[in-house]
Amino acid sequence: MADATLVIRGGSVVGPEGVRRLDVAINGSAIVELADSIDPPSGATVLNASGCLVGPGLVDLHTHLRQPGREEAETVESGARAAALGGYTAVVAMPNTDPAIDSAGVARDVLALGRDALADVAVAGAITVGRAGTALAPMGELAALGVQLFTDDGAGVQDGALMRRALDYAKGLGVTLAQHCEDECLAAGGAMHEGCWSSRLGLPGIPAAAEELMVARDIQLVRLTGAPVHFLHLSTAGSVELVRRAKAEGLPVTAEAAPHHMLLTHAEVAGYDPVFKVNPPLRTDDDVAAVVAGLCDGTIDAIATDHAPHAPECKDVPFDQAPPGMLGLQTALPIAWEVLSPALSPERIFALMSVQPATIARLRVTDNRVAGHSAQGGPLEVGATANVCVFDPTSSTVVDPARLASRSRNTPYAGRTFTGAVRHTVRRGEPVVIDAVAQR
Ligand code: DOR
Repeated sequence: MADATLVIRGGSVVGPEGVRRLDVAINGSAIVELADSIDPPSGATVLNASGCLVGPGLVDLHTHLRQPGREEAETVESGARAAALGGYTAVVAMPNTDPAIDSAGVARDVLALGRDALADVAVAGAITVGRAGTALAPMGELAALGVQLFTDDGAGVQDGALMRRALDYAKGLGVTLAQHCEDECLAAGGAMHEGCWSSRLGLPGIPAAAEELMVARDIQLVRLTGAPVHFLHLSTAGSVELVRRAKAEGLPVTAEAAPHHMLLTHAEVAGYDPVFKVNPPLRTDDDVAAVVAGLCDGTIDAIATDHAPHAPECKDVPFDQAPPGMLGLQTALPIAWEVLSPALSPERIFALMSVQPATIARLRVTDNRVAGHSAQGGPLEVGATANVCVFDPTSSTVVDPARLASRSRNTPYAGRTFTGAVRHTVRRGEPVVIDAVAQR
């Protein structure tokens, strides 16, 4: 292969139909050959992938990059670096920045910051001005920039009539609304899941119904308007069941779950450590089992990190006063692997973390020059943009907060070891991570 600039050797390519032992040759930003054995031309970079899975670069539907406004917690640059180290080649930046991403001006600024980052940065626009829930944001001007997802994440749109109007606009514009499902009246004052642990610890609770009420309401609004809704970070068994039934009915709904809701329960809060405070909160064993079952049976379409950095001076305060949120980008794939790989094949896991999130965010098809992202979600085939995640399932990831790329340290997994490790990440043909080290 005379033209290759990069060859990924010795790995097994994860495709829609399964896993196959193949080398991958890349020239510039495109895949130019897949074959049993490719001799790298002199001068080409060679990535050793023996024993590894070579899958499409991961896509995160739910990343808080904190820029503009909270750069002490994260920047587009540091968040994208964490993403690349986690195997991601694209992230969708949430709009709960300061100012919020509720206008073309702010969206343009964030997209510009993403141009030189280690992962593609797409943005989600706010549904309402300032995410205040009272007036619709200029969704048309944001859509004209290439924005495909809209959400007030961090808060749900409380006013059903306003949400209905937003859905009508979204349908006309061909974009998707993503809902943070939380009824603020029911959740008011809550710091953790309402259940046996909140009673024992004396902390105010957030009932599962606070989430489920809004999931149920929005399913009715999908029925009414015909517009699609994506449900962010589902955390309760009841929510999963509502989405399962809506899908069985043929409604255009999709859903995501976060790694922490696949693994951790409200019992973690026993030591009052604010690192375990997150919204929606960590729930019960039954809820965790329902989320995992939803991922396995296709009710939940995507694993999304809800990477939510908070600077130590904000987070290291009493539990009830701490902001909710935990880091997620550098631990998501090992956690997904550990929790799901007994039940799901590698191609199903890559579907949940790359193909399906890329489809929901509409990042799959062509390279988008306006919004600055390349085609994501695979499949890895000749002619495709070389966005690649090389994962070693025989290795392990030891979580050391001090060594994470994020500007923040709020990982709930400090000291834990997970099966598997991201080895290399290739973004648009550039090896941005080699042997778990960022290259620039
Ligand atoms: O835990 C959370 N943190 N949940 C959210 O919805 C928002 C996020 C944040 O921005 O910190």
